[in-house]
Amino acid sequence: MTSENTTNKVALVTGANRGIGLEIARQLLDKGMRVIATSRSGDRIDELAGFEHVDVQVLNVGDDSSVKRLADYVEQQYGGLDVLINNAGIALDKWVPALSLKLDDYRATMETNLYGVLRCCQAFVPMMQRRGSGRVVNLSSELGSLTDVQMGSSLAYRSSKTALNSLTALLACELKDFPDILVNASCPGWVRTELGGDDAPLSVAEGADTAVWLATLPAGGPSGGLFRERAPYPW
Ligand SMILES: NC(=O)c1ccc[n+]([C@@H]2O[C@H](COP(=O)([O-])OP(=O)(O)OC[C@H]3O[C@@H](n4cnc5c(N)ncnc54)[C@H](OP(=O)(O)O)[C@@H]3O)[C@@H](O)[C@H]2O)c1
Repeated sequence: MTSENTTNKVALVTGANRGIGLEIARQLLDKGMRVIATSRSGDRIDELAGFEHVDVQVLNVGDDSSVKRLADYVEQQYGGLDVLINNAGIALDKWVPALSLKLDDYRATMETNLYGVLRCCQAFVPMMQRRGSGRVVNLSSELGSLTDVQMGSSLAYRSSKTALNSLTALLACELKDFPDILVNASCPGWVRTELGGDDAPLSVAEGADTAVWLATLPAGGPSGGLFRERAPYPW
């Protein structure tokens, strides 16, 4: 499936200051998109300094007022949004068994990885509905899949991604009357970032690839799916 013409489309990436989010922002800029690269600090992102069409903005996905402020800005500045990449994520309970998991860590994980995505969808998808087109990409994980659970631990992180998969499928269903709004989730694989660690086999370029492909799907592309290496992956 070839990608659509992306020149001058407006894309917003959460958690774009490092890791996979930074690489997604870079690849979308390379495709000629105007990219709102967001970070919690709002500091300049040096790696994106050479691009003309980058707009660095503050966004904490865990904060209602931060999401609302940015939505107002995007509406005023760009008149809408074409692509939303829900990339920001945390993993507070790596290797922690469920029986030892601190409930506060569970709540904090959900606040960012699930409610943060829902907040952003609620703020930005109505802009896509007004235009009748848009692409939403949620960064999920193989670890959220319930098809083949072989390893215990990391309940908070993993179930936040399982719930994110559910959000992806249900939102795609709710948007069936808008056939050119495509909502999908991407498994990046195990990627060398602060979250993935140094032993991960994949580069950020490899980890960003499927998300960028989903962000640039042509009209008629899939919606409501989970994809890894540009192919469907079991929930
Ligand atoms: N790396 C992997 O192997 C892997 C595998 C599967 C899925 N993923 C998923 O891919 C996504 C990106 O992961 P990564 O490996 O690039 O992680 P990372 O290097 O740790 O980067 C995470 C990004 O999320 C941001 N963030 C965290 N909480 C936020 C909040 N409340 N508001 C806004 N931004 C926030 C961080 O900002 P700060 O700099 O301010 O902390 C950072 O920019 C995540 O959703 C992750 O679950 C990664």
